[in-house]
Amino acid sequence: MTPSDYEYLRKLLKDRSGLDLSADKQYLVESRLVPLARKAGLPGIAELVQKMRGGAEALTAEVVEAMTTNETFFFRDRIPFDHLKEAILPALVQARAARRSLRFWCAASSTGQEPYSIAMLLKEMPALSGWRTEIVATDLSQAVLEKSKAGIFSQFEVQRGLPIQMLVKYFKQNGDLWQINADIRAMVQHRQLNLLQDFSHLGTFDVIFCRNVLIYFDQETKAAIFERMARMIEPDGALALGAAESVVGITDAFKPHPNRRGMYCANTARTAPRVAGASAMPLKLVAAAR
Ligand SMILES: C[S@@+](CC[C@H](N)C(=O)[O-])C[C@H]1O[C@@H](n2cnc3c(N)ncnc32)[C@H](O)[C@@H]1O
Repeated sequence: MTPSDYEYLRKLLKDRSGLDLSADKQYLVESRLVPLARKAGLPGIAELVQKMRGGAEALTAEVVEAMTTNETFFFRDRIPFDHLKEAILPALVQARAARRSLRFWCAASSTGQEPYSIAMLLKEMPALSGWRTEIVATDLSQAVLEKSKAGIFSQFEVQRGLPIQMLVKYFKQNGDLWQINADIRAMVQHRQLNLLQDFSHLGTFDVIFCRNVLIYFDQETKAAIFERMARMIEPDGALALGAAESVVGITDAFKPHPNRRGMYCANTARTAPRVAGASAMPLKLVAAAR
């Protein structure tokens, strides 16, 4: 790959998805894009870039998708789900006793293991029986969203992180594949969404999971996303980040949860304006997603 083609791809990926590639990641770009070029009937990356420079929009979108990392698994890292079950949800159940509704957002939901882990966890909580719960799952990649919507997982995927009792209780086997039950699927609404773009239309949330995506962005992009998320989370809500991610040194819009590692709360000492009229959004969202 020529230095000029690499620079073109680096800039394009940064602008389109936030992916911040260092100068030495040519091997990664080649390993992902050579197969894509071949699939498009092109000899290599030079010709792929030529087409992109010429304005081939669909091909460019495929390149952006191909460069995303979609690794995920059920109850990934376990600890955030334990925090949710043991501390965050019990506190929210008390605080929302009159309203009896909760909203969750998985902000980079990939193939669905994360939102469905939350959905199963909610199902397992008797205190939430009869409550209205919404889980909004968003991702940049339409391909992962389609897989997530279908809720169909391989034997390998259901063996990663999913307790066997939950597999038996919430999935149906079909040959080598397992499909998550319709009632769990119905708890999750899917929407394509680029975190670089405005997301205030999603409304406000009690809990946001934004895990293992910001790690690919530069500091400035992360700070801007945290700032916008802080306007969409309830003052007593919680944000979960990935094991290698933190707000520390990046933003003061969130502060670490006092005793739940990896969870963060909106810094209410700061007066970030909240999203106006956001609580009216969920019904519209339900309609749009179906
Ligand atoms: C490594 S997966 C994380 C999945 C899940 N949150 C987890 O922790 O298991 C990262 C996801 O972020 C998505 N992604 C990358 N850039 C994005 C962007 N700018 N906006 C929204 N999603 C993005 C990718 O498509 C991918 O599915």
